[in-house]
Amino acid sequence: DTPELVDRFGRVARDLRVSITEKCSLRCTYCMPAEGLPAIPRPELLTPAEIARLVGIGARDLGVAEVRFTGGEPLTRGDLVEIVGRTREAAPGIPIAMTTNAVGLDRRAAALRAAGLGRVNVSLDTLDRERFHALTRRDRLPAVLAGIDAAIAAGIGPVKVNAVLMRETLPDAADLLAFAVARGLQLRFIEQMPLDADEAWRRDEMVTAAELLEVLGSRYRLTPIGRHDPSAPAEEWRVDEGESTVGIIASVTRDFCASCDRTRITAEGWVRSCLFGGDEVDLRQLLRSDADDAAIGDAWRAAMWGKRAGHGIDRDDFIRPARSMGAIGG
Ligand code: GTP
Ligand code: 5AD
Ligand code: SF4
Repeated sequence: DTPELVDRFGRVARDLRVSITEKCSLRCTYCMPAEGLPAIPRPELLTPAEIARLVGIGARDLGVAEVRFTGGEPLTRGDLVEIVGRTREAAPGIPIAMTTNAVGLDRRAAALRAAGLGRVNVSLDTLDRERFHALTRRDRLPAVLAGIDAAIAAGIGPVKVNAVLMRETLPDAADLLAFAVARGLQLRFIEQMPLDADEAWRRDEMVTAAELLEVLGSRYRLTPIGRHDPSAPAEEWRVDEGESTVGIIASVTRDFCASCDRTRITAEGWVRSCLFGGDEVDLRQLLRSDADDAAIGDAWRAAMWGKRAGHGIDRDDFIRPARSMGAIGG
């Protein structure tokens, strides 16, 4: 009997992603419907104390080695600083990260850093204000840039930038790389997965890693350097033989499911073993009963045992998840 979060395929989950809200200040077309997601009633959201308890159980008993808060957009939660602070108390020594669109981060970066936030990954797809507006359905590019500056100034780092590859913004990719190189940001381009609410994704129309490499190759000399570690989703390229690198997360054309080390908790406190579904188990109900940590750990382990082999996007029998990315928690 192993205490770790293992599945039938022998993978061990050490990378915990906790979605803390379905709300978002933007409406990226690859992630959310224009009207936003149906609101989760407040009593159904995990509280800061509940989140911290789960992370504590994961870290102490189940081999979780790092935690990342996602959403929706984590910054839309007024109690985010408390969530980070309590998590650090419940799971000291575990690095705490956040994936964010950075809107409003300028006002909270210092407090988040003081509470224990170690690093942030900022989603930013283009520096062209009009195309940013079209893609996110909000004219908030200046707020995102202010958020990035504030994270750097507060000493939250390293700051990574995630850019989802979309046909509309592909012409902006080289400029985004120049921006990242100039500021010491670690840029990663990501193949779009079929997790958009509008179901507009088409396998034969999506921008692939190969296509991006061609576009960047006309302006930069890129040398492949592989992955930091085998479970890292990004493959790295050195830029113009300098210090900077650029990453590509080829989730579709070169999927990394076989070495996936992720486990997820949804904003309502369900375990989700894979982005693309699998057994979901309700931990909130246990948290709000008199279940002890061991019982919660057992339920979590049971959920992970049912993790699927992979997303299977290229299989004939692939079925899209019913929920969009924003509702799962990237
Ligand atoms: P680091 O620890 O900084 O490497 O972060 P990360 O890459 O684990 O997390 P981030 O939230 O920045 O996610 C980057 C991208 O990876 C997302 O945009 C997703 O497209 C993709 N991603 C995240 N989780 C999964 C997953 O479970 N499966 C797959 N296939 N892709 C994922
Ligand atoms: N495919 C790939 N990545 C996506 N993200 C959101 N929707 C998708 C999608 N359909 C990214 C966001 C964020 C991360 C958590 O997931 O840009 O950086
Ligand atoms: Fe919001 Fe992030 Fe989804 Fe964009 S990708 S709509 S910023 S949750």
